[in-house]
Amino acid sequence: MYHLWNLLWACLVSNPFYPHVPSSTGANTASTPSQIAAAAPTTPPSTLTGRLPALGWNHWNAYGCDINEIKIISAANELVSLGLKDAGYEYINIDDCWSLMQRNPKTNELVPDPSKFPNGISGVAAEVHALGLKLGIYSDAGTATCAGYPGSLGTESLDAATFSSWGIDYLKYDNCFVPKNWTDSPDYDDWYNSNSAIRYRQMGAALAEQSIPIQLDLCIWGDANVWDWGARVGHSWRMSFDSSPTWSYITEIIAINVQYLSSIDFFSHNDMDMMEIGNGNLTIQEQRTHMAAWVLFKSPILLGTDLSLLSSTQISIITNPELLAFHQDSTVGIPAAPFNASASSSASSIPEYYAGSSSKGVHVFIINTFSTSATKTFTIANVPGLSGNGPFVVHDMWEGSDLPGTYSLDSSFSIRVDPHDTVAYRIT
Ligand code: GAL
Repeated sequence: MYHLWNLLWACLVSNPFYPHVPSSTGANTASTPSQIAAAAPTTPPSTLTGRLPALGWNHWNAYGCDINEIKIISAANELVSLGLKDAGYEYINIDDCWSLMQRNPKTNELVPDPSKFPNGISGVAAEVHALGLKLGIYSDAGTATCAGYPGSLGTESLDAATFSSWGIDYLKYDNCFVPKNWTDSPDYDDWYNSNSAIRYRQMGAALAEQSIPIQLDLCIWGDANVWDWGARVGHSWRMSFDSSPTWSYITEIIAINVQYLSSIDFFSHNDMDMMEIGNGNLTIQEQRTHMAAWVLFKSPILLGTDLSLLSSTQISIITNPELLAFHQDSTVGIPAAPFNASASSSASSIPEYYAGSSSKGVHVFIINTFSTSATKTFTIANVPGLSGNGPFVVHDMWEGSDLPGTYSLDSSFSIRVDPHDTVAYRIT
């Protein structure tokens, strides 16, 4: 999808017949890059939302453009009835294709498609809020969304006010159809001053003016060194091209993300993209790894499937209380990071051993990246963050129970791990 859109923009931005949205409220009237940078807003994101990585659902991976009010409200009801709300899932996010192709000719406002949303987005917000959940919406820092609906570049203030008037709590802000005068120069000293960052800063500032805090996800696909400046503009940012329900996507996004772990903390989250549990043919072990990886890196977890079709095993994976507690820990904002497990750790495509702390102790996650089962071993003393000489108790987070026996600092711990599975432990 990402490459396709790149190609499409290249055609469109160089096409003189492509209708550029006229500049209006919130438009940047400066013309040279340095004038634009000097005039660009520097408003930081709200600290009333987005401290912890978002938990919720987004329609895109399940339905693409085929959406309507019934599907969105059904997902909200299922979040409640399946126990997902109780587990911490909170956001119901509408993605692309919700609006009409034309703005309101009189007010220039975005208009929800009445055939999909007969009660408007505000009607959906009322129902979602009545369930104790929050509503997200989608727009684009270009002239059109990726599916060709109106974008918000140049109308940031108007659109932010419209979203706020509807009761929106979260905005996913995409990166398609960027006009030529807004593309980036090859290099910036600080990519916060890149045209890309400025397009996002304009929306960030417009959201900050609204009375309700609106969480902002920069759907910028890892462009423009977003990990360096994303936290100055929004609460989370996409690190890559679009997810797919494949093992290769899971390992590729881990490989990207491990390079940028220092940008993750409270209010500051690398977004590994929406979840694929329930889609495609991932094995149960791969689905556990999918969940564990998004948890250990503190990525937003936005479920992306028809929730009514999930099996009880899948629901237990996505609601595992101990994994979610690590993800949502209120005292430690930083993620788990790779560690050297033992002198003889075998080489793999991505790191297999991760450790991180939470208010409950020190956690170890081990991914078996191989397609055969394998014995994984780490020396207790190699686990970063453990203090004292023990004895240590190892607790299986998936099972919610302690393993038999205790370990001393120089013990080594071994476990047989299924192909593509991830084991998760808490050591105290
Ligand atoms: C892509 C984005 C996807 C989805 C899609 C909608 O650019 O990465 O997550 O939002 O646009 O058209």
